[in-house]
Amino acid sequence: MCGIVGVLGNHEVAPLLVEALKRLEYRGYDSAGIATVNHGKLDRRRAVGKLVNLSDLLVHEPLPGKSGIGHTRWATHGAATVINAHPHRSGPVAVVHNGIIENFRELRAELAEAGLAGESETDTETVALMLRLYMDRGLPPREAARETLKRLEGAFALLFLFEGEDDLMIAARKGSPLAIGHGEGEMFVGSDAIALAPMTDRITYLEEGDYAFVTRDGAEIFDSEDRRANRDALRIQLDQTRIDKAGFKHFMAKEIAEQPVVLADALKHYVRAGQITLPQALDFSNLDRLTLVACGTANYACQTAKYWFESLAGLPCEVDIASEFRYREPPLPGNSFALFVSQSGETADTLAALRFAADKVAKTVAVVNVTTSSIARESDIVLPIYAGVEVGVASTKAFTCQLLVLYLLALKAAADRGRLDPAALAERLAEVASLPGLMNQTLSREGEIAMIARALAEAQDVLFLGRGAMFPLALEGALKLKEISYIHAEGYASGELKHGPIALIDKSVPVVVLAPHDGLFDKTVSNMQEVMARQGKVVLITDTKGAIEAREGTWKHITLPTVAPALAPILYALPAQLMAYHAAVAKGTDVDQPRNLAKSVTVE
Ligand code: AGP
Repeated sequence: MCGIVGVLGNHEVAPLLVEALKRLEYRGYDSAGIATVNHGKLDRRRAVGKLVNLSDLLVHEPLPGKSGIGHTRWATHGAATVINAHPHRSGPVAVVHNGIIENFRELRAELAEAGLAGESETDTETVALMLRLYMDRGLPPREAARETLKRLEGAFALLFLFEGEDDLMIAARKGSPLAIGHGEGEMFVGSDAIALAPMTDRITYLEEGDYAFVTRDGAEIFDSEDRRANRDALRIQLDQTRIDKAGFKHFMAKEIAEQPVVLADALKHYVRAGQITLPQALDFSNLDRLTLVACGTANYACQTAKYWFESLAGLPCEVDIASEFRYREPPLPGNSFALFVSQSGETADTLAALRFAADKVAKTVAVVNVTTSSIARESDIVLPIYAGVEVGVASTKAFTCQLLVLYLLALKAAADRGRLDPAALAERLAEVASLPGLMNQTLSREGEIAMIARALAEAQDVLFLGRGAMFPLALEGALKLKEISYIHAEGYASGELKHGPIALIDKSVPVVVLAPHDGLFDKTVSNMQEVMARQGKVVLITDTKGAIEAREGTWKHITLPTVAPALAPILYALPAQLMAYHAAVAKGTDVDQPRNLAKSVTVE
């Protein structure tokens, strides 16, 4: 998604703006730009492609000024061109935007009648034109901004800068996050705390519908009813926002390697003295149902959790893709919890699903990595996953931490509902405690996995198969591979093979089979043999027992440490992640910022 930054500084702001935009690169973008006011004169520079192109432009065409705004654009309306890059400008106003203005076409028509036409294909330029219209009619910047905001429909984080105003930025948020940073005689605005970390650790998050007049003296914040609003200034632990590769070639590689440590850390937060420590309000005893809603990888974590909640706790579970959930108008029993799983906590569809469910269920629960995010702040209960900042667009450590928290929730549900006595619970927790060590052992197989990945990188199509709780991991493995290596991949329940996908099988199609030696192993082996009988190339990921029984005839196989069957989806995520990573490296794609993708999808 797009990234926004603004600075009212005491020094030249162009370098600060570019540095802050670099810290937002992980969100994904295809063009960038900045605007400054220098002794009242508003000017801008924009460039297509990576930020280095904007930096080069600024070397040749410097942009002076101690007040400025900046933007990294992830194209929604209009191709990645300089004309479509932000900041957009009309007369005395420049604007940067994250989100979608849904009624921009009707506003454009009104503006055209007033003789104001834009130059770009973007919805954002409409905002600049609308502000200009009100200013042409004599309204000062603050009033013009107020009137403009009233006309906008959709989701937006906006930041305005004005000709002649060296000490004013106007910020507004509706659906997309926006933070205000407090300095010493300086003020900052950014899409998140990461962007502002080098400049300040004192952050105020705007709430839904807020707008703010920012000067070097501070921020006047107003709510959606134009009433003055007081929002807390938080002190953000800077280490949370420290993002560097720590010697790894890619953030994704670092984040894959961090998993044993972050899982152990998450465990320390949730399991103390042999007890699961969760909010008392999370009582599953007499619950009728659980609804789990998420997108992408987080949705696969929810699909995995369904197996755990139902088999361990006997708790009926419905899992929904967030973008489908509210539109199917699901009947939600009052005596139920709705869980929203999101690494960023800002995914627009998941946030919208939360708002749909909020007044229908007993409790909304956010399972998130960013506890200051919109989803966290709008939920009744927040369960952090403690994965640490995840920069790579492809989610890895957040996925396994989501699974861990969901598994602990399932254990608590089972205990609450009398299906797991203290001794059995203690046994399960002992198994969980062994996970970080098993993950370390698995990561030590990276060289072997990388070799297989390089062979996979030659394929046009790859299938992933899994049964039971390994089926969602097959979906996740396929998503990882396709989203960073651009190889077409699909995940299937292995029992589904004969219902169609087996038609795809020939000697050019690798089939990755995720199969610990569990109660379903023999059935999965049968499916695997059907593939090999048709020259399909099977990559078997299993444990020692499984390898002994079934590696004969496979193209490749990886033997993982033996793990408790319920925890296999967490452990087997690692080889799936490493295969995708090394296949992408072999193909030379942009591993951390794959084409067309964004880390946080804050628009529908
Ligand atoms: C995962 O590798 C993808 N980057 C994507 O599917 C992601 O999981 C999805 O967009 C949900 O994001 P969230 O967890 O921040 O809500």
